[in-house]
Formats: sequence, C-alpha cells, structure tokens
Amino acid sequence: MIIDRDFEFFLENILGLMVINEEGNVVYMNRQCADYIKMDQGKSIGKYITEVFPPSKMQNLLKGNKAINTDFYFHDGRMSVSTQAQLKKDGKVVGVIEYDIIQDLNSLEDILDKYALVLNDEMKYYREQFRNLRRTKYSIENLIGNSKKMNDLRKQIEMAAASNSTVIITGETGTGKELVAHSIHNLSSRKLSGFVKINAANFPETLAESEFFGYEDGAFTGAKKGGKKGKFELADGGTLFIDEVSQMPMLLQPKLLRALQEHEIDRLGGEKSIPVNVRIIAATNEDLRDMVKAGKFREDLFYRLNVFTIDVPPLRERLEDLPELVMYRIEQLNLEMGKNILKVDDSVYAYLKKYTWPGNVRELYNIVEKAMNYANGDTLKLEYFRPDSKNGAMDLVSLSKLGTPIDIVKREAERKLIMHVLEIYKGNKTKAAEYLKISRPLLYQKMSRLGIK
Ligand SMILES: Nc1ncnc2c1ncn2[C@@H]1O[C@H](COP(=O)(O)OP(=O)(O)O)[C@@H](O)[C@H]1O
Ligand SMILES: [Mg+2]
Repeated sequence: MIIDRDFEFFLENILGLMVINEEGNVVYMNRQCADYIKMDQGKSIGKYITEVFPPSKMQNLLKGNKAINTDFYFHDGRMSVSTQAQLKKDGKVVGVIEYDIIQDLNSLEDILDKYALVLNDEMKYYREQFRNLRRTKYSIENLIGNSKKMNDLRKQIEMAAASNSTVIITGETGTGKELVAHSIHNLSSRKLSGFVKINAANFPETLAESEFFGYEDGAFTGAKKGGKKGKFELADGGTLFIDEVSQMPMLLQPKLLRALQEHEIDRLGGEKSIPVNVRIIAATNEDLRDMVKAGKFREDLFYRLNVFTIDVPPLRERLEDLPELVMYRIEQLNLEMGKNILKVDDSVYAYLKKYTWPGNVRELYNIVEKAMNYANGDTLKLEYFRPDSKNGAMDLVSLSKLGTPIDIVKREAERKLIMHVLEIYKGNKTKAAEYLKISRPLLYQKMSRLGIK
C-alpha cells in the first residue's frame, strides 16, 4: 500500500537523485544514485560534487541564467542521460538538483526504436505532436494586442482562412508576418496537413529551382540518388509559405506562375509534370508594385498572387499594444531563464513608447530579453534597459540616430544578403561580388561599412 506523502519513499525511487548547495557541496544523494555511481551515501554528504562524481555538470548551473539542462554522462563504461535544474529561493540560486532520465544504453535504444516505429506508422503520432507544438506557438491566440489595428488584422486572418485563395502578407520586418501566415494555416481546412516554409531570398537562382520544385535522379552532377522533393511537393495538401517573395529569382517566376495556374510542377530534369494541391501564402516587406515597375517582378505573377492582401501594421502605429507584448515576452523568458518577473515599472513603458521601433516586435522582444538578463526580484525596472550608461546615456532614441527606420532596415537587409552570399561561396569574394553584380572593391567597402569580417 502506498502511503500518502511518504516523500522519503518517493525520493528513493527517482533515478540518480542528487542535490548540491550554492557552494557545490553535496547535500543529498538517494540510495539509488549512490549505488549507481558506487559511492557511500553518508561519506558523500558535504563533499564538493566533482570529488564525489568527477564528470558532474551540476556545478555549471550554479552560475548564469540557464535554469535547466539535460545532457549525457559517459562514465565508468556506462552512459546516462540526466537533467539538472537550478533551485531558487527569492530569485537567488541556492543549489542544483539532478536526476537521471536514462541509466543504460538499452533503454535509450528502446526509446529510439519506439520513435522509429512511430515515424513509420504514417507519421501520424509525430505529425499530431508537431501540430500541437505549432498550435501552441503559432496560432491566432498567440497574436498579442488589442488595438483596433490588431483586431482588424484578426478579422482579415479569419477571412483569409475561410478561403483557399493565395494571400500576400505585407509589412515591415519583425511585424509578425510569419505568425500571421501560421495563423491562417491553422485556422484553415488545411490545418491537418503541413505548413512548409521557404525563403525566396535564401538561394542563388540555380539552387532555388531545386529547392522549390525538386529534382530527378541524375538531374545534375552531385544530385542525390533517387532525386529530391521540392517544397511544393512537401506542402502537398497543405500550405506553402514563401517568405520574401519579392526576392524570387526572375528565372523562377514563370515556373511559380505555372504552379499557381495549372496546379502542377516540373522537377528539375523530370520528364512528366507532377500535380500538386498547395495553397500559397507569400510575405514581403517590399512593395511588389514598385518591384514590377522596376522590372524585377513579373506583372502577371503579381496579379496572380495579389488576390487577398493583408497588411500587418508596424508597432509604432499600435503602441497601445506594447505593455501586453512586453508582459507576454516576460512570461516566456521567465520560463526560459528561470526568473520571476511579475510586473513592469510604468517608466519602462514611457521609455519604450518614445522609440520608433524600425525592427518592430522582433526588436522589442530582443530589447526586453537584454533587460531581463540584468533583472532580479519581481519587477522589471528602467535601469535594466540601460545598464552600460552612467545615467542612461545610451537610449533607444539615440539609437534612431543611426538613420531613418528605412535606412536601418535596408542596411540590415544588405548585410544579411552579403553574409549569405559569402557563406554560399565559402568566403570567395570574387565569386560573391560576381553574384551580387558589384565590383570587388565595392564589396570590400560594403563589408567594412556593414561590419562584416
Ligand atoms: N502580434 C504579435 N504577438 C505576439 N508576437 C508577435 C506579434 N507580432 C510579432 N511577434 C513576434 O515577433 C517576432 C517576429 O515575428 P515574425 O512573424 O517573424 O515577423 P516578420 O516575418 O514580419 O519579420 C516573432 O518572435 C513573433 O512571434
Ligand atoms: Mg519574417
């Protein structure tokens, strides 16, 4: 018979349970743990943890913001998987607790086998889990803000979800375009199928085609045996989210148009067309009409895409949502960082509302995260937002002096593109400059101006 609250008994049945205090000395070790690491339970108490168990990682959590960690131990010819968690009192780390999840290779293999079985089983369970995960992270409920603009946005999302048309989401960087795309998908009849994402700016022309449309066996040297599905095929039955659609290489634009009109695609090197049933949601932070005028985007594709447009408002036009966004981010970070911030000083909101937010919600989240690193207790205070200054010299408004919001965004886009191209060409600047259609000296100039090493 199990006796209510027989905690001693319960503790004895946790695998590998150990507790250290803030000095890293062992204060508790259950019998199971002592037996497993072949130590005397009594003699271990009071000793520094690595004297008792040399490979220990517990002491690493005494310092820093990492509240929880799970890792392997390989020790004494055996393997275990353990979780360590900070123990906190009044916001201060007073120790670390550790327990094992797995203590032998066989159970690890069991788990991997079960996982493989589940995958084979039409990936049903796996997919379900994924859907839940996605729902918790990316559904309309996670769209924060009660301003009129946000409520209008929700209505548009619901309308778009009820239809099967192509949607274009416009808005500045960091406004939540991707979140909106996820929300539409998860409210639509396609929610049980996949949401596949591709960023049109991420690939040079030659690679982009196979990413979008896939390739057949032997389509080019180095092609994978058996060919490869493109994102269109992967999204079959579901939604394909094309981010930065304005950057779609010219060469591919007619192929995208064909996919939209004929509902079929051609793999690179393929002989026959493949039917696909895909709903397209595209996002852009550039004006597609301007791109059409400049001859960089096909007019026919523009009209085919431009069925349903949703414009996501910038943060500066809905500053009344700011407190709610800040609290939401704090709640996430409390969990991640093991903190317990429950309120925010009014001066913080006054300060944040003075800024123009060129990077929108993404930038707000980053700034809150930085401040959270300095925070302790239960209140987020203004001083955490400018810890480097004597009396607040470095503030957000002076950040804006870097240029207009548009300049900042342009510079960031340019920096990202150059870094990406350099990565693709493994740092070869001649090739990168060629791809970017600029001279080598200009590339060097840009790199130094944008702080690229
Ligand atoms: N209304 C919102 N409510 C909650 N989080 C938001 C909102 N808008 C944006 N975010 C968050 O801001 C970050 C940037 O959003 P994202 O959709 O990637 O922006 P974009 O694609 O427009 O650049 C993400 O972490 C996202 O979850
Ligand atoms: Mg985005």
